[in-house]
Amino acid sequence: MLRSVLLAASRSSRIERLATKAPVTRDVVRRFVAGATVEDALRTTGELVSRGLKVTLAHLGEDTRDAEQAAAARDEYLRLVAALAEAQFTSAAELSLKLSALGLRLDQRMAQDHAAAVCAAAAAAGTMVTLDMEDHTVTDAICEIHAKLRQDYPQTGIALQAYLRRTEADCRDLSGPGTRVRLCKGAYAEPESVAYQTRLEVDKSYVRCLNILMAGEGYPMLATHDPRLIAIGEDRARWFDRAPDELEFQMLYGVRPAEQERLAAEGYPVRVYVPYGTRWYAYLMRRLAERPANLAFLARAVRSRT
Ligand code: FDA
Repeated sequence: MLRSVLLAASRSSRIERLATKAPVTRDVVRRFVAGATVEDALRTTGELVSRGLKVTLAHLGEDTRDAEQAAAARDEYLRLVAALAEAQFTSAAELSLKLSALGLRLDQRMAQDHAAAVCAAAAAAGTMVTLDMEDHTVTDAICEIHAKLRQDYPQTGIALQAYLRRTEADCRDLSGPGTRVRLCKGAYAEPESVAYQTRLEVDKSYVRCLNILMAGEGYPMLATHDPRLIAIGEDRARWFDRAPDELEFQMLYGVRPAEQERLAAEGYPVRVYVPYGTRWYAYLMRRLAERPANLAFLARAVRSRT
């Protein structure tokens, strides 16, 4: 119930305007977001890399509704690639891209062209792109663009969401050699017709998808903080004889940092999803929806100001 209220609020531009101006939210934002600028993103990348972690950087923003904003989002990523190359972070840091920020809801072809420009720059600089997965109304479009991008940039990854009923089949399609699939539970409010609704159903689907990816020939990227699923991931790595560097764990910036370091110390690549930029509102609301305890964190920040 609380989750659906928060996810519905994540789509309200009126609440976004209010929240962005409120000084109290800044303290909460800082836990999950690296900062507003490319420099903030690079500083955080440096800190994480010095702790033996890898990074995927995401410039915040989604659901762009005009072509100018979509081009600006592409240009921001091009600046980011140049900055990563200059700082010599391209072997440790890749990019996470939301196609809706590049105009997907406006014009699929435009989003694809912008994404191709980012993939080309990333490849030239020696890094890669992973496409974030968004709500189910754009899953087909994101999968189509992913397939097109892979023709020229085969290393392009994609996130798949275990809560969607279709995802087992998508995992099967994307378990061949050279694929990079980030498996997550899924962060949006989705109807029963397309998505499992209970935690147990989603977790069971995650394990089925994990089995397919681990048995396959691609590179699975297990994006979860769930201790039980992480343990199952480690178990399957042994079962399917995968060396630690034949898969990776991924977690969000600000969530379970000690677990990130524990897995890295075990020899697994661990990649931290680091968002930056000023459009943090929808991202933060999804993080609050995932864990009610984060609301207490927000409440403490409010109390400390009053
Ligand atoms: P679950 O929500 O069950 O959490 C397990 C435990 O982890 C919790 O008990 C808590 O201890 C901790 N935890 C989880 N979330 C927390 C939070 N926000 N704050 C504090 N503690 C928390 N989704 C999507 O739809 N499309 C995408 O492209 C991506 N991309 C993505 C990349 C990466 C690297 C990660 C880690 C996650 C995503 N997600 C995503 C989000 C994902 O779908 C999911 O909503 C969150 O990861 C939470 O699910 P868990 O698997 O962590 O389990």
